Amino acid sequence: MDYKQFIEEQISEIRDTVGREKAINALSGGVDSSVVTVLGHRALGDQLKTVLVDNALMREGEPEHVVKLFGKLGIKVSLIDAREEFLTALAHLTDPEQKRQAITDTFYAKVFARLVKESGAKFLLHGTILTDIEETVAGIKRQHNILAQIGIDTQKAYGYGVIEPLKSLRKDAVREVATALKLPRELSQRIPFPGPALAARIVGPVTKERLETVRAATTIVEEELSETGAFQYLAVLLSDLATGIRDNKRQFGEIVVIRCIDSVDARTATVKELGWDKLNRICERIVQIKGVNRCLYDLTPKPPATVEYV
Ligand code: XMP
Repeated sequence: MDYKQFIEEQISEIRDTVGREKAINALSGGVDSSVVTVLGHRALGDQLKTVLVDNALMREGEPEHVVKLFGKLGIKVSLIDAREEFLTALAHLTDPEQKRQAITDTFYAKVFARLVKESGAKFLLHGTILTDIEETVAGIKRQHNILAQIGIDTQKAYGYGVIEPLKSLRKDAVREVATALKLPRELSQRIPFPGPALAARIVGPVTKERLETVRAATTIVEEELSETGAFQYLAVLLSDLATGIRDNKRQFGEIVVIRCIDSVDARTATVKELGWDKLNRICERIVQIKGVNRCLYDLTPKPPATVEYV
């Protein structure tokens, strides 16, 4: 595939579709939304407003870091604090599909609808990729960002049209486009991170405290495993508890699962073989997180498991 040509085609298509109207897009810092942000700004300049919605579900320091990173690329990103709205929508939900639905609804129908209205934008640029569409259409999972492909008319439902420049590409091709756009490696090679963010890694209720636990575990896992070159690595908080010993007393504590996989496009995945020393070090660090007394390594490939737990 000629990525330079792909970029030129997408830029002119975005320009043709948007015309003299305004557009808006949401950046998460993942490679998909980063590529869309850069394509959009090349196509539209000031006609495009880019926002980063802090949904309370992102990694440690991530919202501020991403805003800064794009500032260095000359792209202004507005940071929107919607933490309480998302936490309220998620409160008391435990069913995976209901949690994903709550995030979709809060994002599109509430926060985004409001931002679009305020900005006067008639179009939303979106980083949907081919794998998202395939898995949603196949009924494997309701990806939070799939709308048109399952029959939702965004114009009717939310009041704006959606442009999806990456919908014909898989993750590996998106990285090639990122490289062709000369995005820094930190962005082009960034490991995949799901739209529902850390909520995809909390089985059971999503609360501020449980987010803190999984966020701390994520920091450890990313520090320890970034050198492996694995496709993706993550930490998951289960809803079960297990008996342990803390300060010579019985403690019914939290269980964190570590997952580290190799994959080309996340459609299938194999588990990375990690050295015992590495696994032990991760375990030692994970059980220092408040309330956690067990750390497990997940040996399950995809299929039958998915990458995320929710
Ligand atoms: P699963 O868990 O479905 O994940 O095997 C496959 C890949 O997709 C990521 N993922 C998502 N990405 N929105 C996204 O943008 C989502 O709702 C979503 N769910 C999973 C996951 O991290 C993995 O790389």
